[in-house]
Amino acid sequence: MSKDTVIYEVEDRIAWVRFNRPSKRNSMSPTLNRRMREVLDELEFRDDVGVLVLSGEGSAWSAGMDLNEYFRKTEAEGLGATRRAQAEAYGWWRRLRWFQKPTIAMVNGWCFGGGYGPLFGCDLAFAAEEAQFGLSEINWGILPGGGAAKVAVELMSMRDAMYHAMTGEPIDGRKAAQWKLVNEAHPLDQLKARVTEVAENLLKKNPVALKATKDALRRVAEMTYDNAEDYLIRAQEAANFHDNSGRKEGIKQFIDEKAYKPGLGVFEGADKPAAKPGT
Ligand code: ACO
Repeated sequence: MSKDTVIYEVEDRIAWVRFNRPSKRNSMSPTLNRRMREVLDELEFRDDVGVLVLSGEGSAWSAGMDLNEYFRKTEAEGLGATRRAQAEAYGWWRRLRWFQKPTIAMVNGWCFGGGYGPLFGCDLAFAAEEAQFGLSEINWGILPGGGAAKVAVELMSMRDAMYHAMTGEPIDGRKAAQWKLVNEAHPLDQLKARVTEVAENLLKKNPVALKATKDALRRVAEMTYDNAEDYLIRAQEAANFHDNSGRKEGIKQFIDEKAYKPGLGVFEGADKPAAKPGT
């Protein structure tokens, strides 16, 4: 069943989405890629979803592209099928990069090659210490395509990225955290608790400010300083349109009411913007 390639449940405003081809180590087939796009569509603007967590069923997060279904079978069908399969895969990773809600990769196990696309697509990433990460493309004779080479140099130092890509040696979750592929690594049995804690923290923040913030960090990374300054003014003014009193309330609770300290936490009611996004 194509629907079974991705499963999810929503609990306490966290959407727990999982790659679900454990017998194929959650490698990404065209069917899975199409289904993941649908799932993102289903979840993105649900009022009961504040954070999305992406993990995998079984021993893998994702063993990259399905070498049989994504490469061999589509190539056998010709260039049109290959381009379609690429567009479907890259499409949902792009969708994830600009998702309306904060996203967290919870890397529970194997993460190879094409898996770096959704890994980078998520705003934050937490790995099991036991997880294994690798740009294994070199081991079967291709370059790290599908954005994987770009992900490596975006996240890691050039030396680490080059070593990682040229040797194809896997690294564990701890090293992935040292090399900045992920934010943190934790023992597998503590991983979900830590991710839940981070998600619950994000759920308390103003959702308009969160979306503006995550987009801003990705956008300014590619801008000159002057362009970034200008973009950030305009992005904040656009955010004001979607939430017309959040920041005023934040200032009031600190300056007038002395109810909280912004340096140490978030103001009361930040998670409920005054105007709904889009209104
Ligand atoms: N594509 C297609 N099938 C895969 C993939 C994949 N990427 N990864 C695993 N599978 C399949 C295996 O063929 C096997 O299928 P079978 O049961 O029908 O024989 C099944 O998943 C289980 O795989 P095993 O190798 O037996 O699992 P094991 O737990 O021993 O090893 C590991 C896991 C290390 C992830 C191994 O499967 C592997 O090296 N996979 C390929 C990783 C990789 O290099 N991916 C491509 C990256 S490059 C890119 O994405 C562009």
